[in-house]
Amino acid sequence: MAIDCGALFEDCESLAQLTPSPLAAGMEGSAILAIAGQVKARIASGADVANFTVGDFKPGVFAIPEAFSKYIGEELEAGQTNYPPAIGVPELREAIRNLYERELGLKYPEGTVQVGSGARPPIYSAFRILVEPGDLVVYSVPSWNNNYYAYLNQARSEVITASPEDGFMPTAEALAPYLREARVLCLNSPLNPTGTTISKEVLSDLCVAIINENKRRTAVGHRPLILLYDQVYWQLTFGEHKHWTPVELHPEMARYTVFIDAISKCWAGTGMRVGWGVVPPWIRGRMKPLVGHMGAWAARPEQLATARLLNEPETIAPWMDEFKGAVQERLTTLRDGLWAMRDEGMPVDALDAEGAIYLSARFDLLGKTAPDGRTLTSDEDVRRMLLEEADIAVVPFTAFGYPPKSGWVRFSIGAVTVEDVQNSLVRLRALLEKVA
Ligand SMILES: Cc1ncc(COP(=O)(O)O)c(C=O)c1O
Repeated sequence: MAIDCGALFEDCESLAQLTPSPLAAGMEGSAILAIAGQVKARIASGADVANFTVGDFKPGVFAIPEAFSKYIGEELEAGQTNYPPAIGVPELREAIRNLYERELGLKYPEGTVQVGSGARPPIYSAFRILVEPGDLVVYSVPSWNNNYYAYLNQARSEVITASPEDGFMPTAEALAPYLREARVLCLNSPLNPTGTTISKEVLSDLCVAIINENKRRTAVGHRPLILLYDQVYWQLTFGEHKHWTPVELHPEMARYTVFIDAISKCWAGTGMRVGWGVVPPWIRGRMKPLVGHMGAWAARPEQLATARLLNEPETIAPWMDEFKGAVQERLTTLRDGLWAMRDEGMPVDALDAEGAIYLSARFDLLGKTAPDGRTLTSDEDVRRMLLEEADIAVVPFTAFGYPPKSGWVRFSIGAVTVEDVQNSLVRLRALLEKVA
C-alpha cells in the first residue's frame, strides 16, 4: 500500500510556519490572479462574463501563428528534444540579432542575447545580477510586477506615481531626485497595464539623464545606472504611435540598457515560453550561469521554431497584420464606446489605445450608490459592482501599485471577441444609468 503523505501533512502548523525563509514567507501572490479566481467562479456559476482581466489570450480567440505550430511539430519530429544551451540555441540568438537589426535598426554582436522561458527569467536574472540588497530600484506605477522583482532581490524601491496626463509614463523630472542613488530604472513601453507608449521626447530626456549620471559615476569609478527596458509589446503599437528604443535615440545607451522581450504577447504565445534579454556582453556573461542554474530555458523545439519564423518576415507579416488588426479593433471599439458614454456626461473616461492589449478606463463613481444599495467607497467596490451587476471583469490599477481611489482600471482584450466588447458596452451603459 502507498504511504499516505497527505496524512503526514496534517497537524503541522508550526512546521509549516517555520519552514519557508522570511523572504519566501513575505512573498505575495499576484493580485490579478486573485481577481481571476473570482471571475472563474462567476463563470462557473453560469454567468456570461466579458473577461477583461488577465493579460493573456484565449486560444480560441487569438491563436499563435500556424507556421509556428507547424515548425514546432517538425522540430519535435526531428528529435530536437535534448537540453538547449543555457544561453539559447545559436539559431535563435542569431535570429533575434537579425530581428533587432532589421526592425529596430540595432546591430548587436554575438554574445549579447540571453534566451529564457519567457520574459521573466531575463528580468529576474537582470535584477539578480544588478541589484544588491539595499540597492535602489526606481520604477513608476501603474506597472507590472516590478514590486515583486524588487522584493525578491531585497532592493529598496522608489515608486514614482505617474499621471494620466503623461500617459502614465515617468518623466526625467520625476526621476531626477533619485538619479544619483538609483541602480536600476525600470521602464516598460507599450505599458502594461495602461496601453500607452512612451514618447520619443520623454524617452530621450530619460536617456540623457542616465548618460549624464553615468558620466559622473564613471569618473569616480561607481557602478552605473542601468535601464531595464521591457518592450515585450513593442510590435503592438497603433496609429501614429511608434515604439522607440533608448539605443536608437542615444546609441551610448547600449552600454546601460537591458532589453527585455518575448514572443508571449506579440505572437499570442504566452504559454509557449520563449523570451530573451538583449544586453551588454558583460551582463550576458553573468546571465548565462544564472539562467542555467535556474534551468529557465525555453523548450528546444520552440526555440528552433521561433528562430525559423523570425527569419521569415514574409511568413509572419500577414499573420501579424491580422493579429494586430484584431487587437486594435477590440481596443478601439471599447475606447469609442467609453468615449461616447463620456460625451453624454456619464461618469467614465478612457485613454487612447496606443499599444499592447490594454485600455485604461476611469470610473468616477466613488460615493455613488450601487444597484444593491451599497455605497461605492473604493476602486475594489467599483470592480465588484462591474462584475456582479454587468458581468464585466476588469483589474483596478491598485493591483499595479497605483494609489487607491483613483478610479482607473485596466481592460485587457486577449480573451474577448468584438461582439463580447459590444455586448459589455450595452451592459455597462445600463449599469451606469442606474448608478448615476
Ligand atoms: C510588461 C511585461 N513584461 C513581461 C511580462 C512577462 O512575459 P512572459 O510571459 O514572457 O514571461 C509581462 C506579462 O504580462 C508583461 O506584461
